[in-house]
Amino acid sequence: MEKFVVKGGKPLKGEVCISGAKNAAVAILPAVLLADEPCTIENLPDISDVATILRAMKILGANVRLINKTTVEIDPSHVNSFVVSKEMAEGMRASSYFLGALIGRMGRARVAPPGGCDFGVRPIDQHIKGFEALGATVTIENGMVEARSKKLSGSSIYLDVVSVGATINIMLAATKVKGLTIIENAAREPHIVDLANFLNSMGANIMGAGTSVIKIRGVDYLKGTDYSIIPDQIEAGTYMVAAAATGGDVKVTNVTPKHLESIIAKLRDAGAVIEEGDEYVRVSMKGRPKACKVKTMPHPGFPTDMQPQMATLLAIAEGTSIITEGVWDSRFRYVEQLTFMGADIQVDGKMAVISGVKTLNPAPVKAVDLRAGAAMIIAGLIADGVTEIEEIDHIDRGYENVVEKFSNLGADIKRIRVNNAPEYLKQA
Ligand code: EPZ
Repeated sequence: MEKFVVKGGKPLKGEVCISGAKNAAVAILPAVLLADEPCTIENLPDISDVATILRAMKILGANVRLINKTTVEIDPSHVNSFVVSKEMAEGMRASSYFLGALIGRMGRARVAPPGGCDFGVRPIDQHIKGFEALGATVTIENGMVEARSKKLSGSSIYLDVVSVGATINIMLAATKVKGLTIIENAAREPHIVDLANFLNSMGANIMGAGTSVIKIRGVDYLKGTDYSIIPDQIEAGTYMVAAAATGGDVKVTNVTPKHLESIIAKLRDAGAVIEEGDEYVRVSMKGRPKACKVKTMPHPGFPTDMQPQMATLLAIAEGTSIITEGVWDSRFRYVEQLTFMGADIQVDGKMAVISGVKTLNPAPVKAVDLRAGAAMIIAGLIADGVTEIEEIDHIDRGYENVVEKFSNLGADIKRIRVNNAPEYLKQA
């Protein structure tokens, strides 16, 4: 077992380069199963969720060749299995994308139910509604989601909730299905646009990605492509918040500033100074943040995946902040960990009231999920002293080289094996 040991109390300074987007990568890799020729995917983040998907693709029969740490060539022509077992999916949320991709490729899929971060109930009813509208029969048998179809055809689907996963899964299933599929009330996240651009670069006919109506006219053949994944909006946002929270000055490079608008706006409300370039943002902050109100919403609203990091910044703001969670039923499990560090936060259902304290104190904490883990690193960087963070495998699922990237900004952060604690920890 490993944990992070963070010695905080120092402002972050310098430059950090953002990796490819996790949530685009975990959709684009399964999408390669739809291709009729090999594809090369560049700017893949080196994270465990990507490794899990690549491993599952190999087991399905794809020929996966790593060209370098961030580039992979995949030839799906020999894939003939439609089964993604629980062991192959390793509790990933994105395993559900194999459903759409395998339905699209073979008209059949048997996939372990998706896992992922625990935010309360995580239904897939909208995914199933989409597959059924296209003509598939979906059942849940022996703990596996099974989809079969004799003949699929284009259809209109209105999503009852704006769902990233359902939008992506229906796009995957419909790309090679005869006729016109229309997804209404579709999610508009940058990774949905990236998936559409990837599929279109192979010859798909997908229009409207990035708006709430996506139209897919099915094509028979998808040629090979070379495609580079967009930068990770949430990784960028995490370093931006960390810069502000430590009173630092950080240039965050290899980003698409347009994808960061809602995060930039909220950080400015909180008192950060932000300079925007073509492919960078520079964030600095002097003194304590200002309290503000944040409501998470589907894109282009403030992302729910930035909510724990923002709460950590607001935990040391002057005044009382309110965060309303507008996407998930239960995304405040990390708050208890912040209170161990002296934060004053009251949660009532989907709302958190944060009474700012001067600073946070070091404490042993846990990464209860991926973004909660990022928030714990930020909290550790704020607190003057040694904070230990356990259960960091959550963080490794979505942040490439997190220790190296924060260390390059001047942070004192180490990954240690639990039985191999440094001397100062043994004495503590
Ligand atoms: C994606 O999850 C992301 N994961 C999540 O990021 C992110 O928090 C979420 O979108 C919202 O932006 C990936 O892209 C792999 P949803 P997803 O379907 O697709 C309800 C991270 O930290 N819903 O948009 O699972 C659902 O309960 C991860 O990187 C239904 O009711 O989210 C939720 O309230 C964690 N029925 C809302 O919709 C359904 O069939 C949005 O969920 C599907 C969803």
